[in-house]
Amino acid sequence: MGKDNVEIIAVEATQANMMDYEEASRSFDWADVEKRFSWHETGNINLAYEAIDRHAASERRDHIALHYSDPVRSESYTFEQLRQQSNRAANMLRKLGIGKGDRVFIFMPRTPELYFTLLGIIKIGAIAGPLFEAFMETAVKDRLADSGAVAIITTPKLVERVPSHELPELQHVILVGDEQDITAPYIDFAKEMQQASTEAEIEWVDLDDGLILHYTSGSTGKPKGVYHVHRAMIQQEYTGRIVLDLQENDIYWCTADPGWVTGTSYGIFAPWLNGVTNVVRGGRFSPQDWYKTIGRYQVTVWYSAPTAFRMLMGAGDEVVQQYDLSSLRHVLSVGEPLNPEVIRWGYRVYGQRIHDTWWMTETGAQLICNYPRMDIRPGSMGRPIPGVEAAIIDDAGNVLPPLRMGNLAIKTPWPSMMYKIWNNPAKFEEYTRIPGWYISGDSAYMDEDGYFWFQGRIDDVINTSGERVGPFEVESKLVEHPAVAEAGVIGKPDPVRGEVIKAFISLREGYTATEELKQEITRFVKEGLSAHAAPREIEFKDKLPKTRSGKIMRRVLKAWELELPTGDLSTIED
Ligand code: WT7
Repeated sequence: MGKDNVEIIAVEATQANMMDYEEASRSFDWADVEKRFSWHETGNINLAYEAIDRHAASERRDHIALHYSDPVRSESYTFEQLRQQSNRAANMLRKLGIGKGDRVFIFMPRTPELYFTLLGIIKIGAIAGPLFEAFMETAVKDRLADSGAVAIITTPKLVERVPSHELPELQHVILVGDEQDITAPYIDFAKEMQQASTEAEIEWVDLDDGLILHYTSGSTGKPKGVYHVHRAMIQQEYTGRIVLDLQENDIYWCTADPGWVTGTSYGIFAPWLNGVTNVVRGGRFSPQDWYKTIGRYQVTVWYSAPTAFRMLMGAGDEVVQQYDLSSLRHVLSVGEPLNPEVIRWGYRVYGQRIHDTWWMTETGAQLICNYPRMDIRPGSMGRPIPGVEAAIIDDAGNVLPPLRMGNLAIKTPWPSMMYKIWNNPAKFEEYTRIPGWYISGDSAYMDEDGYFWFQGRIDDVINTSGERVGPFEVESKLVEHPAVAEAGVIGKPDPVRGEVIKAFISLREGYTATEELKQEITRFVKEGLSAHAAPREIEFKDKLPKTRSGKIMRRVLKAWELELPTGDLSTIED
């Protein structure tokens, strides 16, 4: 595609033009970003110090760091108050003997306590493992077992899904809730926090010491623990400034849960490293509630996901008119392809250009983006940020010319790149198999002006409502059901969710294909794994297409579903 036939939503004339980008890319040096941190002078490194304590020791001490609300609570905390609460959490954990390098999990809904705890974990040099509250027992167990977690902070309700007896390394279970619901051996979070001092020594670490573990899905095997280190803060601070465009008096709202990487890198680290007010809204999604949140706090910068924007679009233009969204200055999206239609709608109804950003759990921070000062080409993810080099390469590692489709790859390293996959060096090597490059697993092409256009996943990973689901994990759960002989799982295109999970199932002898059985199987996955991993659609088949080695051919299932030619079937069983 040349420039002439590309749709452009141009940057406003009052703003600088793309020359800034070229200029910035030419003169860019990560060392300049490092100079913005206090450790550059003191040598004392800890992300939580840079995000909280540094501001608490400055004239921003009494600036609001967190506006939290849900349908029943509504609280705000300054940087100084967050410093004290996270110190209490750090002391609580230290008292239990937890320290540097230990894995400590958090499994609870978005509440202020979640944020205090996560910062407290980081302050003592431990490694935080945030889990989405919708995870069920198998999902929780797999992650705690793989990481050898020594402690978990959860709630009296969610603790039912933590199978302590099957987790020999798990020594401490801390519960956030009402005192009367908490009995030994469980530890009462509120009581411990109250007794703990508001002053704590920070554990100074190395830039390459562990920070956080985010489990994410691939096409095969169990979810893998993506391990990030303190160095990631360099890119999180930087992209917070140049991509989120965070400025001193911004009120910033990232809608993601910290159980996913967006909810930590951009729901915690980027805003606080920049000393900016962060809004957290607990509870469920509803268009009214979300618009009200923007008006109530006068949100200026808003970071969300295509699936949410599509649901808001579905709720209609009239709802928008009932709320005050005039505070918005900058709107961004991540997680899956942002439909041009959504961009046009957002421009018309919010008066905002929605800026797409591309990155992954493994990359730790944004890499390919639409900057504030850049023409938007709807359907494109944007251009690599200054400091990052992206290319389309073939399987042999040759860089392809513009307009050719291939592997979206990033020149290694960059500051927030994952440091390793926990317990699984072989998996890590799959990403770095071509020397000098990180292979994302996405296919894309670059246009003649350096804009990147997403084409799809190269593997079978499903992206439903912006959440990554590994088909293998779902298939494994499905075959645990007594009626299921074999299962193959694919992503089926869906106008709102991007993809939905569809399962093809062959039944065991003696079971009949009924509507009730479908519902029961769905419930089984929901309760065993998590709601977002449960199939929305089930189709029973007498037999599933398999290779001679017995691998279910998802590619053929997908072709069936889309009524496409099934392609090369030479390896099929019969
Ligand atoms: C995968 C990563 C870290 C962000 C949240 C998702 C897809 C992400 C885009 C985008 C098209 C996108 C890719 C990527 N993806 N952003 N702007 N346009 N696709 O993180 O769960 O690690 O998933 O999400 O396929 O590989 P994740």
